[in-house]
Amino acid sequence: MVPPVTPVDPFDLVVFGATGDLSQRKLLPALYYRCAARQLPAEARILAVARRKLSDSDFRTVARKAIEKHVPPDDRPEPALAHFLSRIHYFAAPANDDAGWPELKSVLAEHPERIRVFYLATDPELFGPFCEKIAAHGLVTEQSRVVVEKPIGRNLKSAREVNDEIGRIFPESRIYRIDHYLGKETVQNLMAMRFGNILFEPLWNSAHIDHVQVTVAETLGVEERAEYYDTAGALRDMVQNHMLQLLCLTAMEPPTSLDADSVRDEKLKVLKSLVPITAENAADRTVRGQYRAGASPDGRVPGYSDELGRESHTETFVALRAQIANWRWAHVPFFLRTGKRLPERVSEIVVAFRHIPHSVFDGNAGHIVPNRLVVRLQPNESVKLWLMIKDPGQGGMRLQSRALNMSFAEAFGGRNPDAYERLLMDVVRGNQTLFMRRDEVEAACRGIYPALEAWGAEDEPPKPYTAGTWGPAAAIALIERAGRTWHEDEE
Ligand SMILES: NC(=O)c1ccc[n+]([C@@H]2O[C@H](COP(=O)([O-])OP(=O)(O)OC[C@H]3O[C@@H](n4cnc5c(N)ncnc54)[C@H](OP(=O)(O)O)[C@@H]3O)[C@@H](O)[C@H]2O)c1
Repeated sequence: MVPPVTPVDPFDLVVFGATGDLSQRKLLPALYYRCAARQLPAEARILAVARRKLSDSDFRTVARKAIEKHVPPDDRPEPALAHFLSRIHYFAAPANDDAGWPELKSVLAEHPERIRVFYLATDPELFGPFCEKIAAHGLVTEQSRVVVEKPIGRNLKSAREVNDEIGRIFPESRIYRIDHYLGKETVQNLMAMRFGNILFEPLWNSAHIDHVQVTVAETLGVEERAEYYDTAGALRDMVQNHMLQLLCLTAMEPPTSLDADSVRDEKLKVLKSLVPITAENAADRTVRGQYRAGASPDGRVPGYSDELGRESHTETFVALRAQIANWRWAHVPFFLRTGKRLPERVSEIVVAFRHIPHSVFDGNAGHIVPNRLVVRLQPNESVKLWLMIKDPGQGGMRLQSRALNMSFAEAFGGRNPDAYERLLMDVVRGNQTLFMRRDEVEAACRGIYPALEAWGAEDEPPKPYTAGTWGPAAAIALIERAGRTWHEDEE
């Protein structure tokens, strides 16, 4: 089924860092798909900016290669690709000098009334310098907005500094802090499921839910992004942003509407309720690891320090037990784990319900497994509800645990649009619901970054784990100490 497409208003999108990895892998393919779906009006322009000197035609060749690499051949007939490329114009405009900026300004000045999006797909250290240049060259209009990528700061202090730098030029209502997990269909489905059905919300509390698990597992290592990754680590790269956002959407109170501030107010309350990780509780509540050489689905792979070319104490795996101190979630642990070089690529949220209070079945019925709701974000997006049902056949009452399985591919068919497609169009529409507000980012830093200090992350090596395993044994101990086990899909 082809989803309906509503064209957006005419816009100029300026992508800073257009020659970079993110632009090539995500932004250009996303824009191509939206163009091919006729969502971009004829007047919309894409202005690509980076440091190196390239002509329009040179950059279009770069963009063509990126799209040929990341979009399957059937989705890119030549006329559609050529039409998309013809809409891109390139400017060499460095963050730290004025060359190229007057040219960019004169092209933008052709349509001062248009929606103007500045997408900073660059190192966060350049967010401030770029915002200053944008303002100094008079490019900010009433219709301008800025999009920034993670990570925003390495700690609370630097997150505040980056936010201040952007905030000096753009009001909060026009700052879009992207967390692409929020653009994933299944993540939005969490809200559809919770608030579009009467079934779950009455049970969505500590009286009925035993615990929640959030897993974001990758089979890949750091490969050519090792230098960047080494400055971040799994806590900053995954937990502080994507995983806490998943936790927030799972745990928040129903907002009064899907209006941006209603949703973000509720997420903020969750972040403020996180019991902080401290030097006293870190050993019990967190595990950090780093992969060593081992096996991956692609064969033998090197360890992290071999990929990086030197020893490092940066973690490539984190497991933690989060606690939300409010009435709804009192004593319900939220187990989070993420890592690179794990046995499979999977992102999912598991809501594990409590045991039934009393069994009417005799011993022959078998073990009664508590219900689980499993929201699979990738791959094979699905929602599974594990229920006890009767084993078919005569004789006594034997039960088994089976899943009601709502597979998105089966239910809707077709291609599942990438999160960036949705989010880019939301920026043009001026819808901030799926973007993080400043106070959310800073509350997430306050809730999570104390772990770095508690670990003595600079001095203490992370626990080693062999590539192709589910992280250090301590991660299994972390959940088992609490009397639970990590979810394994049985079907
Ligand atoms: N890559 C990902 O998968 C990913 C995922 C999530 C978030 N992010 C975030 O997205 C941002 C971009 O990451 P990336 O991996 O795409 O980086 P990247 O591959 O290193 O690309 C950096 C881009 O910035 C440009 N640039 C560097 N210094 C500049 C300067 N002084 N003035 C103007 N342009 C300059 C480069 O232009 P030249 O080529 O001309 O030097 C290049 O286009 C970062 O904030 C990153 O944390 C990336």
